[in-house]
Amino acid sequence: MLLRLGEQLPGAIRVIEDSLERGIWEEQEQRSRIPRDPYRFALPGVLPKLTANEEGDRLTIPVEGTSGAWIAKFGTPAFRHLVENECVMLRWASLCGLDVPNHRIIQGRDIEGLPEHFDPEQRALLVRRFDRRVDQEGMTRIHQEDFAQIFHVAPEDKYTESHDQRWMSHETIGHLILELCGSKDFEEYLRRLVFMVLSGNSDAHLKNWALWYPDRLRARLAPVYDFVATIVYGGEGGPALCWREPETPSLAPEKPLVETTLDDLLLLCPSADTCTAFDTAQALGIIEEFETKAREQWKEVQGELPAWQKNKLAAHLDQVRLG
Ligand SMILES: Nc1ncnc2c1ncn2[C@@H]1O[C@H](COP(=O)(O)OP(=O)(O)OP(=O)(O)O)[C@@H](O)[C@H]1O
Ligand SMILES: [Mg+2]
Repeated sequence: MLLRLGEQLPGAIRVIEDSLERGIWEEQEQRSRIPRDPYRFALPGVLPKLTANEEGDRLTIPVEGTSGAWIAKFGTPAFRHLVENECVMLRWASLCGLDVPNHRIIQGRDIEGLPEHFDPEQRALLVRRFDRRVDQEGMTRIHQEDFAQIFHVAPEDKYTESHDQRWMSHETIGHLILELCGSKDFEEYLRRLVFMVLSGNSDAHLKNWALWYPDRLRARLAPVYDFVATIVYGGEGGPALCWREPETPSLAPEKPLVETTLDDLLLLCPSADTCTAFDTAQALGIIEEFETKAREQWKEVQGELPAWQKNKLAAHLDQVRLG
C-alpha cells in the first residue's frame, strides 16, 4: 500500500521501491490478485478526494508513479452545499488578504478518467496543492507537516479531547509559529483566528494547521486550507481546539465561537517571560483592522453562498463582536 501511494503523500515525503525488493513486491502483488487500480490518493481527511493535473484546459488523473498538482475535494450528502461553503470561505479569506491557494468549483465530469465510484454530476472544490511546485524543471515537492504530526498525535486525536492533550491549544500553536516562523507568520495566524471566529469555523483542529518549508530550510505557516463555516450545520459551535490550556485540568468544552472576546485572542500573545514576546498593543491593532476588513469583504461574497447558509452566517456575524 505504501508503495502504491508513495508518490502522493503530503509534503516532500516519498515511499519508493527498493530495487532489491522489486521482485518480491511484484510477486506478492500478483499473488494477492488485487486489481491494479489507477486511482491513488494519500492525503488525510474525511472527505473523498483525488489529485489531478491541469494540462491546458483539461484535468487529468496523474499516471502511476507521479503526483498531481491539484486536489479535487468532493462533497458529502451529510453536509449540504459543503463544496460551495468551502469555496466561498476561501474566496472571502483571500479577499481579506490571507494566504489562500488558487481554487475553483468543478464538476466530477471535468476530470478525465474519473474513477467509477465518483459521481460525474457531483461538484468538487479544486484547490492548488501548495506542497507541489511546477516549473520548467518539472515538479518539486515542498515539505509540509500538520500540527498533529508536530505534536506526535494520531489523526483520530486531532480534536485534543483528553486532559493530557489540552496543552495542544491555540496558544501553543501560536508560540511555536512565533518561535519557528517569525512575527509575520504569527500576525497571519492571529488574522486567521479572527477569520475562524467570524466565519463560524468549529473544525480548525490540529490537522487543519500546518507548517511548510518553501525554501527547504525554514519553517513557515502553511497556506490556508479546509476553511469551512461549520456553524451553518448546527451544534454548539465552539472552537475545535481550546484557546489556552486550562489552569486546572478540565474537560469543559470551550464556549461557542460567537462568545469569543478580544481577550481570548490577546491572551495568546507570548509575554516577555517567554523566549520571543509579541506586543499585545500590536496584536490589538491587527485584530481590529482585520475584523473591519473581513466584515467589509463579507458584503462582497455573501451573495455567492446558498441563501440558507448566508442567513445563518449573517446572523452569526451580527452577534459576534471582537473589537
Ligand atoms: N491546498 C493544499 N495543498 C497541499 N495540501 C493540502 C491542501 N489542502 C489540503 N491539503 C492536505 O490534505 C489534507 C486533507 O485536506 P482537507 O483538510 O481539506 O480535507 P478534509 O477531508 O476536509 O479534512 P478533515 O478531516 O479535516 O475534515 C490536509 O490535512 C492537508 O494535509
Ligand atoms: Mg482537514
